[in-house]
Amino acid sequence: MTALDPLQPFRLDGRVAIVTGASSGLGIRFAEVLAGVGASVVVAARRADRIEALAKKIDGVAVTCDVVETDDRARLVDTAVQRFGRVDVLVNNAGVGVPEPAESESPERFGEVLAVNLTSAFALCQLVGRHMLEAGRGSIVNVASILGIVSAGQIPFPSYGASKGGLIALTKELAGQWSRRGVRVNALAPGWFESEMTAEMFADERSLNWIRRKAPMGRPGEAHELDGALLFLASDASSYVTGQVLAVDGGWTAV
Ligand SMILES: NC(=O)c1ccc[n+]([C@@H]2O[C@H](COP(=O)([O-])OP(=O)(O)OC[C@H]3O[C@@H](n4cnc5c(N)ncnc54)[C@H](OP(=O)(O)O)[C@@H]3O)[C@@H](O)[C@H]2O)c1
Repeated sequence: MTALDPLQPFRLDGRVAIVTGASSGLGIRFAEVLAGVGASVVVAARRADRIEALAKKIDGVAVTCDVVETDDRARLVDTAVQRFGRVDVLVNNAGVGVPEPAESESPERFGEVLAVNLTSAFALCQLVGRHMLEAGRGSIVNVASILGIVSAGQIPFPSYGASKGGLIALTKELAGQWSRRGVRVNALAPGWFESEMTAEMFADERSLNWIRRKAPMGRPGEAHELDGALLFLASDASSYVTGQVLAVDGGWTAV
């Protein structure tokens, strides 16, 4: 009799994953984690030197890509399909966000943030989704944020919050449309993690103290604390899970 191996569904041997925004912060970690359990990973971002170094490290493929550019998105997905013949996992991680009060953020800037965080993510879901639907399998992980669920309050993020809230709604819509055809779509909603995006907050003791005060667990997250949630959503370990938002936030959205 074969022993039960509950960890086996978390493995991604022979699978192909695309990770956007893999030139810094969480995206680097996500790509390393997926490669660490056997996936071939195609990493994308605008800073070519960084993704090339990462691709070398994880034996993956780098595609320089501005996710707001239609041709770049097509080249990214085409490269993955031509190189490996399939895409099993898409991690829509590329994102931007700078605090700005609602009364002063220009509608133009608002639109630019949505273009990166929401419209590009939709376009990539669509491009990759077509391949996944044809294959009858696939898992999409949209990296949203707790700020798509709740307001940060003192830190103003109108466009960012709207884009991440939209990404969560899109996740549910796509799950609804594609779940009978083998394609699952879920969202990961991180709390506060150190990265280029949050560098100023993490360098400022008052901001850090604010996070410590507000987070039920009394601290920000550490990058490795997203590993399990990402792997769960990306792999067959979550084969009966779709349209969900998994917050990894030390309890931020629970209270
Ligand atoms: N850190 C947190 O606390 C936190 C919390 C919740 C959610 N998130 C989300 O997690 C994701 C990763 O953020 P992070 O914290 O790791 O920030 P980060 O270090 O600033 O990384 C952002 C990544 O997105 C890429 N990117 C931005 N605009 C792009 C574009 N137009 N085309 C292609 N790539 C683009 C950047 O690469 P290039 O500049 O090289 O293109 C970079 O690799 C984001 O979606 C963010 O909203 C982060």
